[in-house]
Formats: sequence, C-alpha cells, structure tokens
Amino acid sequence: MTQETALLSTTPAMGDERAPARKVFVKTYGCQMNVYDSDRMSDALSRDGYVSTDVLEDADFVLLNTCHIREKAAEKVYSELGRLRDLKKAKAAEGREMVIGVAGCVAQAEGNEILRRAPAVDLVIGPTTYHRLPEALKRARSGERVVQTDYAVEDKFEHLPAPDKAKTRARGVTAFLTVQEGCDKFCTFCVVPYTRGSEVSRPVAQIVSEAEKLVEGGVREITLLGQNVNAWHGVGPDGREWGLGDLLSRLGEIEGLARLRYTTSHPRDMDDSLIEAHRSMAKLMPYLHLPVQSGSDRILKAMNRRHTAAEYLALIARIRAVQPDLALSGDFIVGFPGETDEDFEDTMRLVEAVGYAQAFSFKYSTRPGTPGAELGDQISEDVKAKRLEKLQALLFSQQRAFAESCVGREIDLLLEKEGRMPGQLVGRSPWLQPVNVDAKASQIGDIIKVRIIKAGPNSLFAEMIG
Ligand code: 5AD
Ligand code: SF4
Repeated sequence: MTQETALLSTTPAMGDERAPARKVFVKTYGCQMNVYDSDRMSDALSRDGYVSTDVLEDADFVLLNTCHIREKAAEKVYSELGRLRDLKKAKAAEGREMVIGVAGCVAQAEGNEILRRAPAVDLVIGPTTYHRLPEALKRARSGERVVQTDYAVEDKFEHLPAPDKAKTRARGVTAFLTVQEGCDKFCTFCVVPYTRGSEVSRPVAQIVSEAEKLVEGGVREITLLGQNVNAWHGVGPDGREWGLGDLLSRLGEIEGLARLRYTTSHPRDMDDSLIEAHRSMAKLMPYLHLPVQSGSDRILKAMNRRHTAAEYLALIARIRAVQPDLALSGDFIVGFPGETDEDFEDTMRLVEAVGYAQAFSFKYSTRPGTPGAELGDQISEDVKAKRLEKLQALLFSQQRAFAESCVGREIDLLLEKEGRMPGQLVGRSPWLQPVNVDAKASQIGDIIKVRIIKAGPNSLFAEMIG
C-alpha cells in the first residue's frame, strides 16, 4: 500500500511580490492519511508565500511526511535523509538555503532521535501539530533545531486552512477527507495508537463544510479517511449521536458529489446504520476495506483484535446480504509471534471463504514499544517469507478472478485523468479498479457508461456505450 507522492500545486505565491517565492517539496510515504496531511501542510505554508515544487533541487524547504508502520518504511526515511544531507551541503556551497523537515509517524515516534541520527534535519513535527508548521519553520530558518512532538490540545483542523478552489481543481476530481484520527484499539502489533494518539472524530459541521468546498472545486468523489474511520461519531444537527452511516448519508445530500467511499474500518465498528447505508445509498460505492489480519482465533486473540474468524465471516455475510455486489479488501499479517503452520492455514481458509477483490499482506515487523515486541516465539524471516508468498499467490488469484468476473459488465466510470496512451483516460470502477477507456480530456470529471472488455494484471479496459 506504500505510495510516495511528490505533491505539487499550481497556485501562485501570495507573499512579498518583489522576493521570489520560497519553494517547498513534500514527499509523502505511507497511507492516504499522510497524503491528505501533506496537502493540508502545503496549504498552510502557502499562506506564508510558499509554492509547491516537484523539483527537489529547487526547494528551499524539503518536508518528508513519514510512515512508521513497519520497520522498512521507517528505515526508508533515514536513507532519504542521507541523500538530502549531501544535497543540502552542495546547496550551502552555492549560498542557497535548504531547510529539511520530518513530519508524520516517524517524527512522532522518534522525535529527538532523528536529530541525533540525521544531523542535517532542522525540524521534526508530529501529526497533531501541523497547524503550527509555519511558525516552527520560521524558528528553524532562524537557526533553531525544532522538535515539536507534544500532542496539541487545540484542534488542528480548526486552524489548518481548507483547500481553496484553485488548489482543489489542480488536485483532481477525487479527494480525501480525514474525518477521524488516532486509534484506541491497541492491536498488539501496531504503532498507530502511539504515533497518532487516541481516537478523535471531527465535528459534523466542519466535515460538511470541507466536503462542500471540495465539491465547489470540482471534486466528484470523496473518500472519508480515518485509522478507524467507522468508529467516527459526532452529534448531528438534529441533536442525535451520529455514526458514520449518518454522516455518509448527510454528505450524500451535497449536490454535485457523485460518489463516497471510506477507509479504513475495524470489524468491531461496523454498526447497523453503516451496513444499512450500503443498502440504501447509491452514492456509496460497493467496496469495503475490512482488515482481518489473521484467520486464526488464537492469533486474533494475541493480536487483541477482539473478534473471532467466525464473527468476521458472519459480519461479511450480513453486509453482503444488503449489498451483494460488494467488493471486499483486507489487510493480513503473516508471522505474528507464535503463529504456527496450523494458524497460518486458518488464514488461508478464511481467505478462501471470503474471496477478496483486493488485499494487502505483510510480514510481521516488530515495532519497538508495542506489546508484540515483548512476545517470545518470534517467527524466522524465512518462514514469514514462505507464508507471505503462499498467501499472496492466493490473494492475487482471487484478485484476477474478480477482475475477470467484471469483463462484460456495464458500469458507471468516473473519468479521473489522462491515461498512458494518447486519447485514453483512466477512471475507477465502483470497486476501485483502474479502468482505461478511449475518451476526450474534456470529459475528466464526467461519469460515463462503459462496458468492461478486458482485464489486465493491474487494470481493466473498457469501451464507451451509448
Ligand atoms: N507489521 C506488519 N504489518 C503491520 N501492519 C500494522 N502494523 C504492522 C506490523 N507491525 C499492517 C496491518 C494494518 C496495515 C495498515 O499495516 O495489516 O492493517
Ligand atoms: Fe493499528 Fe489496530 Fe488501530 Fe488499526 S485498529 S490502527 S491495526 S491498533
């Protein structure tokens, strides 16, 4: 699921017109919440006259928005910082400034340690204080080495600027909107409760207003984000306590907004109103990312997932009963401490029973500070690698089978951007697969009827109908 995105925007600087605008290069690692945060940080800096660039060498400020979920993700950051140190030196020799900042979950988890290991870093900022980034950057530019990893008491979202129309347009017709942050579940393998703090839901009015602004900027599809998005709750304008199903149905009333998605969900928080939304809301796409991690009750217990494999299967049966067209996606971990061959076979059996359209699977990675790191019976890398290969072969064959089953179907396709071939656009199917179709660039943002004619390894091909 790793994606690295250099975020750019075309908005001109608003600072001193005589001085050339300062430039920021943001590199994003990890999950979609980081993609969302990177945009908000760029927006906050543009108030101070910063423009975004995708040319690293041009940047006065380089910000890495990092991921700590597995060891590999965290280590990537340090190798990138090594390269940046050399670039910073080269620029300094020419008398040019380059401030280096680290944001995201590595920043929160490692704080001062980053300054020690990477002396070129000027600024470390944790996810709850992004609204204070412009001020922290000013301090860093004046020579201070800033580490800001306290948990902010104020609501950062109240202080971060909402995306303006021009920036939203430049970013495309689909958008992320974080509605919930943090996690109180404490799965024993996971760093999130420590890096992102406890669960916080954004208030209804704030979310609705941000969604309306996105739609004014041309957005047709919004994906609501949260580490535990289906634990979102808030008081509705009717005075009632709302769950995610209620929020989705309120957002569905926004004219011009055609599609809604949400991710990532925990099986314990799929409540009746959310399941009902999959029956009643045409705008809610028939796709659900519902990580299970393991199919063994023993391992699920050791992971503190607080449900059994049978409960997960029963939940899926309930959701499929209201929305038979649902595509399911999941996350899996192989080689959690103590996992036997039999436990692993339980995971294979669960996957067989569910039939996933899409999935992400990982070798267990020991994360310092989590309860899993203290457990005996850690599994060898070799065993993890063999299990992962076997699981991925099964998941991949299910993904192929699902894609093949789409051939011949007529679907609504939201055209998102130009494709690789001239004259082609790419959009997403309701089930989140990329779909290529011959269409004009002026049609980006349209939802058109197409027939799927072919399934490739990573995308579908379609022809327009009507
Ligand atoms: N090791 C391996 N995978 C992990 N994940 C979370 N923590 C770890 C870890 N320590 C996976 C889970 C989660 C996804 C975002 O990353 O499957 O759902
Ligand atoms: Fe991590 Fe579990 Fe929370 Fe997901 S639910 S963020 S896996 S602790």
